[in-house]
Amino acid sequence: MLTPEAIKEKVQSIIQLPALPTIAMEIVELVDNPKTSASKLGKLVSTDQALTAKVLKIANSPFYGFPRKISTIDFAIIVLGYDALKEIVISISLVSSLQRKGDAHFDPKAFWDHSILSGVLARRLARDLGYRVSGEVFVGGLLHDMGVSVLHRYFKNEFKRIMEIIQETDLTALEAEESVLGVTHSEVGGWLAERWNLPNHLVEAITMHHTPGRAEQNKDLVSLIHCADIFAWRMKPQPMDFDKGVDFDPDALNHLQLNDAHVLQEYMQRYRELVRTDLEAVTQFETTREG
Ligand SMILES: [Fe+2]
Ligand SMILES: [Fe+2]
Repeated sequence: MLTPEAIKEKVQSIIQLPALPTIAMEIVELVDNPKTSASKLGKLVSTDQALTAKVLKIANSPFYGFPRKISTIDFAIIVLGYDALKEIVISISLVSSLQRKGDAHFDPKAFWDHSILSGVLARRLARDLGYRVSGEVFVGGLLHDMGVSVLHRYFKNEFKRIMEIIQETDLTALEAEESVLGVTHSEVGGWLAERWNLPNHLVEAITMHHTPGRAEQNKDLVSLIHCADIFAWRMKPQPMDFDKGVDFDPDALNHLQLNDAHVLQEYMQRYRELVRTDLEAVTQFETTREG
């Protein structure tokens, strides 16, 4: 049996950033360079059709609320801004880099849908609650469950056992992970985020997305991502086992002043309608890549 320390070591040593597709690597390098112009980034993104389609679908998501259809990357840069585009592109690349073909225990499409929906919901929730909307809210929402991808890809046998326990017993997904690994996908995702040198509060948001009460650095961010995750989970087009048994954490609800059941219900209703407006725009992505 693997110990949590052994898992951490494996996550942090085996998983190399170069698993990213070449274009993503180029983009990461390009945006790291302060001299990079928006048009240069636009040109590079445009060379990758799949990436372009994903960026445009996010830009056109009803949660972003732009009245006109955004049909080119150049236009997306104008309306979203260079920084937002940069964040969208990098986070899509990071999530995509972990994706592999699905199997009986993992549906990459459902996973991707959940990630995107959590990202756009976190951003929207931040805006609606009057928080400063930084790109990190979207990125954190998009990346929060990346530990699930890591487990599926690098801990195949354990992942299979976890899924069997989830399906066959009353244990929640987190309890099933604990029972097999001694850690959960949140910690695993956090270790990878550390390994990828993501900013500290993103590491914290990923690590604490199921335990927002333990956040110390940026409780706003953790609480927003936690709530967006649950919203997304409750609006899912199809059930996902890996989040079985998750619920709103009272601490996060208090922190965001969403502890009034009525208010929470109103938000839920409003977002559900937005999702219904154009579910396709948010979720129809083809992300499976041969591993
Ligand atoms: Fe999760
Ligand atoms: Fe989630």
